[in-house]
Amino acid sequence: MPVAVLISGNGSNLQALIDRADLPIRIRAVVSNEPGAFGLKRARRAGIETRVLSHRDYRSREAYDAALDALLDEFEPGLIVLAGFMRILTPTFVARFRGRMLNIHPSLLPRFRGLHTHRRALEAGETVHGASVHFVTEELDGGPVVLQARVPVLPGDDPEKLAARVLNREHRIYPQVVRWFAQGRLRLDAAGRPRLDGQVLKHPLQLAELTVG
Ligand code: GRF
Repeated sequence: MPVAVLISGNGSNLQALIDRADLPIRIRAVVSNEPGAFGLKRARRAGIETRVLSHRDYRSREAYDAALDALLDEFEPGLIVLAGFMRILTPTFVARFRGRMLNIHPSLLPRFRGLHTHRRALEAGETVHGASVHFVTEELDGGPVVLQARVPVLPGDDPEKLAARVLNREHRIYPQVVRWFAQGRLRLDAAGRPRLDGQVLKHPLQLAELTVG
């Protein structure tokens, strides 16, 4: 399956997809809105085509997303993977790729939508935190969740330590969900519910173990 990965920064989730050589996908393009994103280097190193589309060159969100849409057209992706893409997408763009766009978010959604999730989880006194892979809908970080990984919050954690522990699990769950999608096992049905092997996922699946990893 042809895939386009959208990034803004480090690209470790992109790397996790690149490293899974057995995934039934071909990453046709990596697109970043930030010219300095380290993930672009990772992509080039893997021989993947890269494009920079800087939001600074566009006057409005609509204009940017229209340009992004046109750029992606060139690669005919069957799946758009948002991997640390730090942009809010317009409803028009989201509608265009409905059921064909995934995101990973560093919290146990619906807890802690938005930014600074690790700090907020610590401040809230959570004992368990994690990450979620979900289909993208118009609601920011609000689309149906497919798979989550839970990680313990440990004494002495700060946002960086907790983020590293969560990221480690992100690299497990994102390739898994991408695999299901590429295999045709996962889809969003007409009612907006995720289905795996035809079964509606009433609750997000959980990566089995609660682990420090
Ligand atoms: C991850 O924590 C992801 O959940 C969030 O942004 C971060 C991206 O990290 N959406 P990386 O660029 O994949 O290393």
